[in-house]
Amino acid sequence: MRNRRAAIAAVAGAASLALTLTACGQNGEGGSKEDKGSSKGGTIGIAMPTKSSERWIADGNNVVKNLQAKGYKTKLVYGQDDPQQQVSQIENLITQGVKALIVAAIDNKSLDNVLQEAADAHIPVIAYDRLILGSKNVDYYASFDNSKVGELQGNYILQKLGLADGSKKGPFNLELFAGSNDDNNTKYFFGGAMKVLQPYIDKKQLVVQSGQTALNQVTTLRWDGATAQKRMDDILTKSYASKKVDAVLSPYDGISIGILSALKSDDYGSKNKPLPVLTGQDAELASVKSIIAGEQTQTVYKDTRELAKIASAMADDALKGKKPQTNDTKTYDNGAKVVPAYLLQPVSVDKSNYQSVLVDGGYYTADQLK
Ligand code: GAL
Repeated sequence: MRNRRAAIAAVAGAASLALTLTACGQNGEGGSKEDKGSSKGGTIGIAMPTKSSERWIADGNNVVKNLQAKGYKTKLVYGQDDPQQQVSQIENLITQGVKALIVAAIDNKSLDNVLQEAADAHIPVIAYDRLILGSKNVDYYASFDNSKVGELQGNYILQKLGLADGSKKGPFNLELFAGSNDDNNTKYFFGGAMKVLQPYIDKKQLVVQSGQTALNQVTTLRWDGATAQKRMDDILTKSYASKKVDAVLSPYDGISIGILSALKSDDYGSKNKPLPVLTGQDAELASVKSIIAGEQTQTVYKDTRELAKIASAMADDALKGKKPQTNDTKTYDNGAKVVPAYLLQPVSVDKSNYQSVLVDGGYYTADQLK
């Protein structure tokens, strides 16, 4: 270990050389992006999960912008949703002498060894949006109130169906989708939603005709829309031949778009077969447009500009020996420690408020939503 540490220290010392050598890295999904910026604070490595979703592209760019404004150089990598690739990318960042790491994990349990290498090289690690599990070498966590995300989705379904105010009694048919089982957020989103939906399932005002209500029956590996589409297809065929689905809990816009395709293939959205209430998350452009068009019903907006600001400030403070600002030091136990977190607040968005929240808030221009 000593030799390894010395080797890392030597490489860290030669950081500028390493960075020159890697500056010609690809800027593609699996490659890395070496950004301009002052080098006075050194380089911070940012490992994002995938470019297949807009949100992570925006997250990466926003973190870069914030860190550069604070005087750092940045190295941004995307892992193509492949856990092994992400591990190698982080290993490379460490070897190249980054001063801190900001990581949105692909598989929350795969990073223990590589984070030990980071710790050995005295590199602080900020978990970005997704908590990294099983490692004591996670210094801080920047995210949203993830249970609240699920509650907003569940409550939206109850309101839209008229169950929340008692104006309707049901029973209504509901199907449930959750995120990737290797993402720690998944259980918080699903748990938050089920906290509000379960009492109505118990009272039989909501009926899950597929019978699939346990988290391990409803997850969607890597948040993949096509996987969700296939599952929805199967459910419609097996459980809805002579019934209609009234609401679908979806944890993420990419999944919602897949579910929507399955529904449309089964004639939902036609005159006598209205689309069900369909939730989502991330306010991705395609989903906001779908909401405006009256297809997807809701999304949960999380301002990635704010998340990037918080995570960047955490890295900066950690490097300057200051205690980063946190607002939750209890919830996020990763199995090895409780990781001090700063949680931002998510916002429910539908057709009635997208203009004020997303356009007036400067997240999208009106033109982008046309
Ligand atoms: C989660 C994240 C969600 C969504 C999802 C799929 O970890 O919290 O906002 O982006 O990944 O990318």
